[in-house]
Amino acid sequence: MQNFDQRSFQFQEVSQEISQLLNQYLTESKEGKTQVLKQQSPESIAEKLQIESNFKNGFKSIKNIKNFIVNYLENTNHLNNPRYMGHQVAVPQDLSGIPDWIHGTVNNPSSLYEMGPAGATLEAFMINWMLTQLGWFKGDNLYDFKLYNNSGSGILTHGGSIANLTALSAARAAISPEAWTEGSPKDLVVMGPSTAHYSIARAISIMGMGKNAFIPVPVDKNEVLIPSALEEVYKEQLKQGKRVMAVVANACATSTGLFDDLNAVADFCEKYKLWYHVDGAHGAVALLSEKDKERVKGIERADSLIWDAHKMMRVPALCTAVLYKKYNSQINTFQQKGSYVFHEGDVIGMDSMPFTVECTKSALGTKLYWSFALEGEKSISVFVEKSFQQARNLYKYLNEHPDFYCPYVPESNILCFQFRPDILSNKQQLELRYKLIETGDFYITSCEVQGKRYLRTVLMNPLSQKKEYKALVDKIKEIADKIIKDTQK
Ligand SMILES: Cc1ncc(COP(=O)(O)O)c(C=O)c1O
Repeated sequence: MQNFDQRSFQFQEVSQEISQLLNQYLTESKEGKTQVLKQQSPESIAEKLQIESNFKNGFKSIKNIKNFIVNYLENTNHLNNPRYMGHQVAVPQDLSGIPDWIHGTVNNPSSLYEMGPAGATLEAFMINWMLTQLGWFKGDNLYDFKLYNNSGSGILTHGGSIANLTALSAARAAISPEAWTEGSPKDLVVMGPSTAHYSIARAISIMGMGKNAFIPVPVDKNEVLIPSALEEVYKEQLKQGKRVMAVVANACATSTGLFDDLNAVADFCEKYKLWYHVDGAHGAVALLSEKDKERVKGIERADSLIWDAHKMMRVPALCTAVLYKKYNSQINTFQQKGSYVFHEGDVIGMDSMPFTVECTKSALGTKLYWSFALEGEKSISVFVEKSFQQARNLYKYLNEHPDFYCPYVPESNILCFQFRPDILSNKQQLELRYKLIETGDFYITSCEVQGKRYLRTVLMNPLSQKKEYKALVDKIKEIADKIIKDTQK
C-alpha cells in the first residue's frame, strides 16, 4: 500500500496515471468508441465508485484511485464525442482543464488581488478585452487596469444565472439606490421577452421583487420579441403606476438560438431612458465573428450585458462576464463593506470582490485567458463561425429530408426540429428524444416553442459533421418508425 504522506512522490505518480486515463478518454470519445452517455442508476454508479468505502477509509492505493477514475469517466456525458449535440456547455479543448488543475493545486481565489495576483490580473485583462469588443474600453491598452469614469467595466462570476442577478441588481441600484437598505420598492418591474431565460425571473424573485414583477413582452411564432409590442406593454405599466427598472433582450434565446432585435430594443430604451440589459449568455460571441456580427447589432447600446465563456468560448464550466457600459453601474451595485477585505485607496492591484455576489471565487480569468492562449485569439472566432455554420449545415440536411421539419433558419448553433409533426404528438416527440438518448449513441435535448415540442441540437463539438447528421437522422427515423408502429397496434 502507498504511504500517503510521501506527497511529492505521489503527486507525480498519481498525476501521470490520471493524465494517461484522461488522454485515453479524450481519444476514445473523439473517435466515437465510447457511448456518448451510458444511462445508469445512481445506485449502480455509487456501487462502482465505491463511494462509501472510499469516503470512510480514504483511497487505499493508486490502483484504488485509478479504479475510481476509470468508473467516474465511464459515467460521464462524453462531450468530446462528435455525437454529443446536447446542452449549451462548452466542449473543451484537450488542454482546457489545466487551469482548473493548477487552481485546484494552488487554490488562489481571484476575487482579492492579494489572494491570487496572477488570476486577478488575467481576469482584468480579459475584461478589458471583452469591453474592447463592445467599444466600451477607454484605457490606453489592455494592460491599463485602472477604472475610468467614462469607461466600461466588468467582472467574472460563476455562471449566467448569478450574472443576470448581478446585472439586475445594478439596474435596481440605478433607479432605486435606497433599495439596498430599505428593500425593493413595490412599483419596480422588469420587461422582457416571455422567453427570457428563467434566471431572469429567478433573479427578480431573489431580489425580493416577486416573480410577478417580470412583465412579459409578446413574442412571435419563433419566440422572438416583437419590438412594436414594447410601447403598449410599457404604457400599460405606467398606467398601473409601475416604474420599469430594466428591459431585457435575448442574444440569443435559450430554446431556439434566435436573436432579438437588439437595436430596436435599444431605440425603445433610449427613448424612455430605461436600463437596457442584454442576456448574451450564449450569443454575445457573435461579436467575434465577422460573418455573424450582424446578429448582435446594437449590443453595444446596452447598459449591462452578460456573456458566458463556458458556453461558446470552450471554457470549462463555469465562467461568465458581467459587463457594464459605465463604470459607475458596477461601483453602485452592492453597497457593502467588509473591513477585512475591502481596502480603500492606494493598494497594489485590483479586487473584484466588492462587485460580485460571491466573496471567494475561482480563478475564472485564468480559464478564460487559457482558452484563447491555447491556439491564439483568432481560434475562438473561427470556432464560433464554424459552429454557427454547423447548425446551418444540419438545417440544410434536415430540410432535404421529407420526414423532418425545422421551424426557422438557425441564427446561432442551436437548431430545433421535429420528426413528422403531422403524425407524432408533442408527447411522442419527447418520447423520441428519450429513446434516442437511451441508445447511448447520441445526446440531444428537447424544448417547447410556442407550446410545440421540438428536438433540439446545440452544435458545440467541432467534430460533428455530415456523417454524424446522417447517422442522427437514420437513428431518429428508426426509433420514430417504431413509435408509429407501436401506436398503430
Ligand atoms: C440566455 C441564457 N441566459 C442565462 C443562462 C444561465 O446561464 P448559466 O447556466 O451559466 O447559469 C442560460 C443558460 O442556458 C441562457 O441560455
